Amino acid sequence: MPLLQIDHLKKYFKNIKAVDDVSFCVEKGDILGLLGPNGAGKSTTISMIATLLAPDSGTIRYKGQDILKEPKSIQQSLGLVPQEIALYPSLSGRENLIFWGKAYGLGGNALSKRIDAVSGIIGITDRLGDKVKKYSGGMKRRLNIGAALLHEPEFIIMDEPTVGIDPQSRNHILDTVKALARDGATIIYTSHYMEEVETLCSRVCIMDYGHIIAAGTKEEITSSLGGQFEISVKLGKEDKALSEKLGALGCVSAISMEEAEIRIAAKAEDASAKAILKVIAASDADLVSFDIEKATLETVFLNLTGRALRD
Ligand SMILES: Nc1ncnc2c1ncn2[C@@H]1O[C@H](COP(=O)(O)OP(=O)(O)O)[C@@H](O)[C@H]1O
Ligand SMILES: [Mg+2]
Repeated sequence: MPLLQIDHLKKYFKNIKAVDDVSFCVEKGDILGLLGPNGAGKSTTISMIATLLAPDSGTIRYKGQDILKEPKSIQQSLGLVPQEIALYPSLSGRENLIFWGKAYGLGGNALSKRIDAVSGIIGITDRLGDKVKKYSGGMKRRLNIGAALLHEPEFIIMDEPTVGIDPQSRNHILDTVKALARDGATIIYTSHYMEEVETLCSRVCIMDYGHIIAAGTKEEITSSLGGQFEISVKLGKEDKALSEKLGALGCVSAISMEEAEIRIAAKAEDASAKAILKVIAASDADLVSFDIEKATLETVFLNLTGRALRD
């Protein structure tokens, strides 16, 4: 039995189909990546798993129990790191952790010990006495994660925990996720950063407009492309006519243009790159760079949606 099993989950907001017939499962010990652009429905899905939002229809089972009927079955085991920072700026880091610890029913010596352990994990021990309003964005994110770990949850959901922070904090957070998984936690990690999900996650669900459009291991998902590769072309400026010409090539299976960058999913033929380069050379576009890359989850997204995943 999977740890978490979601079947035919739906949530509409008036005419927005935020989550539209989503099914997936999470096995114990997985780091499941929920990857998708802004607005894909990731946070809405997570809110329903965390019992903060009631689905319109569908079921969510945790260890076989229906969480709509038995919300406690998941609530006690879950550590939720929300996308929006949930901290009191005028309190210190330690005071924030005490607040959250009490919310989880911890206190006294047990809470102090957990605060020590958690601040070690998130690497903020030396700043615990400072007011949170003095923290950098990355430190706040780390404390936000710490607050969700105080009760030693066996199941952790992190909703875009690395948005808008410095690379050092980002790396620290990615290392924290790996360490938590090594210690036996099961994790759902949502992101719109393909690279993060590729390096962290054992399994991936790609989401778009409320649907899961691809699922499996990274290898399973990218192998569906049959050895395609991706070409990134940077130009001096946007060039719609060139993009259209490239899109008409037989070897191009998908193409997107955002400002002056064209991303192309190309078939695995030796002549593909040459044919693409030839069209560019024949145009009057300024070629800034031309990179051939191995197919990634981004290439899959491009193939399935005709859009680039990135912001
Ligand atoms: N409370 C809400 N009321 C109305 N629309 C919402 C609400 N929450 C989310 N949405 C809409 O549902 C869609 C999915 O949103 P969300 O789950 O936040 O996506 P993601 O987390 O992948 O960025 C978006 O179009 C968003 O605008
Ligand atoms: Mg979100």
